[in-house]
Amino acid sequence: MASIFSPSTVPVFLLLVLVLLGRLGEARDPFACDPNDRATKNLPFCKVSLPIRVRVKDLIGRLTLQEKVTLLVNNAAAVPRLGIKGYEWWSEALHGVSNVGPGTKFGGPFPAATSFPQVITTAASFNASLWEEIGRVVSDEARAMYNGGMAGLTYWSPNVNIFRDPRWGRGQETPGEDPILAGTYAASYVRGLQGTNGNRLKVAASCKHFTAYDLDNWNGIDRFHFNAQVSKQDIEDTFDVPFRMCVKEGKVASVMCSYNQVNGVPTCADPNLLKGRVRGQWRLNGYIVSDCDSVGVFYTNQHYTSTPEEAAADAIKAGLDLDCGPFLAVHTEKALEKGLVTEGDVNGALANTITVQMRLGMFDGEASAQPYGKLGARDVCTAAHKELAVEAARQGIVLLKNRGPSLPLSPRRHQTVAVIGPNSNVTVTMIGNYAGIGCEYTSPLQGIGRYAKTIHELGCTNVACSNDKQFGSALNAARQADATVLVIGLDQSIEAETVDRVGLLLPGHQQELVSKVAAASRGPTILVLMSGGPVDVTFAKNDPKIAGILWAGYPGQAGGAAIADILFGAANPGMLKNKNKTKISFVFIPLCNTLIAHGY
Ligand SMILES: *[C@@H]1O[C@H](CO)[C@@H](O)[C@H](O)[C@H]1NC(C)=O
Ligand SMILES: *[C@@H]1O[C@H](CO)[C@@H](O)[C@H](O)[C@H]1NC(C)=O
Ligand SMILES: *[C@@H]1O[C@H](CO)[C@@H](O)[C@H](O)[C@H]1NC(C)=O
Repeated sequence: MASIFSPSTVPVFLLLVLVLLGRLGEARDPFACDPNDRATKNLPFCKVSLPIRVRVKDLIGRLTLQEKVTLLVNNAAAVPRLGIKGYEWWSEALHGVSNVGPGTKFGGPFPAATSFPQVITTAASFNASLWEEIGRVVSDEARAMYNGGMAGLTYWSPNVNIFRDPRWGRGQETPGEDPILAGTYAASYVRGLQGTNGNRLKVAASCKHFTAYDLDNWNGIDRFHFNAQVSKQDIEDTFDVPFRMCVKEGKVASVMCSYNQVNGVPTCADPNLLKGRVRGQWRLNGYIVSDCDSVGVFYTNQHYTSTPEEAAADAIKAGLDLDCGPFLAVHTEKALEKGLVTEGDVNGALANTITVQMRLGMFDGEASAQPYGKLGARDVCTAAHKELAVEAARQGIVLLKNRGPSLPLSPRRHQTVAVIGPNSNVTVTMIGNYAGIGCEYTSPLQGIGRYAKTIHELGCTNVACSNDKQFGSALNAARQADATVLVIGLDQSIEAETVDRVGLLLPGHQQELVSKVAAASRGPTILVLMSGGPVDVTFAKNDPKIAGILWAGYPGQAGGAAIADILFGAANPGMLKNKNKTKISFVFIPLCNTLIAHGY
């Protein structure tokens, strides 16, 4: 049979299709209001010319009670008779598009996304325009992935809880313990993510977890049972600040309530917090979502209500609009039957979630015709995005000690560098938690290798550093080299979601490794500390054999490049100077608790 495709035109045709897909983004079917669907395209809720308020009211008026209830949860069901597809609300973009939530996947033309430094590192730059710029880049990549059918438009980031307790495993995700810095970070990052195009949203961010949450699992108490006892003054002066700034200045489209109780009331069941403060006083223009299963948690774990229907009703009446988890889809109908909550309450919740979807353009028909509709795979992991990831790490890394001074090292005088320590050649450790898949990684060893010949020794197999078996070869390396760089600290096995620490010292035998290597080194010894939470390195501050200390936090996909640039003087680290502007002081905000405790 004759075909217009001869064997030689087929590859050319395929290539053309691929090129077109690459250019247009992989056009996804519209979420709703498909211009090809004659049954729905002329319904008022699809009319872009009408005010969003009117469109939302029209849509809610068409939904049955059963349909409404299925829209109260993160994996919202489709409403086929109205041409509306199912939607997964849960995506994450804490410091780059992440696949932690079920709404986002990597693969096909989207194998990775730019993975910026963990937030505690970026926050240490004290640079609000950097935070906003990172938000812009992340939302470009998020929109591109949405257009390609790989991601959602609703991101449950940033985490702006005050990092009050230094043992908290999730402190790394936050901008630290200073309320104003955390609030400025929140507003800046949210503006970058959401864009500043009037009422329209590029993506919808969410400031979480409201509030007073800084314990995951410590000494027999977990976050599902934690009751934070907080004074009114501390709420006002500390814990509310980042959320207030996020809502009022950042104009965030969502706030998430937490698992814990505050003064005996689960936050997701507290009308004073949700309806009163977030929506009433701060005027949230957006939706309030629960942490995942937190409505179930206050019924099942905290026994705050005696029936599940009361829990569902309490949450909705408190001001919760969306449940991450199935609880509201399962129990709301019965709660309505029992008269514990009204259909009007449910309509109020849906009005808040659907309004956000409309502001995102999800009811405007063809996605490719919309403002961000042209973003595609070529807009992810671009050279400019990757460079911003290195720059963010350079700006966030902090110089804590520089005796001599011995930094920067010189590629001429330090031609051979011993690179030692359990974090010396790590990759994914550098992106911390709530990350995705980085575009590419530059480990510290690889970064230092761009400036000098390296001799590499781990010293310990991993950060737990349970024995000294590999110390001998580490000491040998240090004896031979012109300088020694020890890259040590923590990773997700020591501090993570569900893992709080019990101490602030380096784990296992790490301290001993550092002291012994420093004593054996022929040249200057520099300590590079990777950690989200504070680590007490008083021993290294006092050790005259340790010439320099850098804190890198978790410096992102290109962290090793930034560390090397700083070690060799191609970039300046963040540092705080004392009054005479010559000497480096040790006052360092993310490590404040520990440093103050040790008399700095
Ligand atoms: C803040 O970051 C931006 C973006 O990298 C940079 O251009 C600017 O110089 C930084 N500002 C300061 C004060 O370092
Ligand atoms: C360092 O890590 C990279 C990337 O994981 C790996 O390819 C390389 O073999 C490692 N180098 C050493 C010396 O272990
Ligand atoms: C200022 O720096 C010089 C040189 O490092 C040092 O000797 C002096 O003590 C410093 N003064 C103060 C007030 O820190």
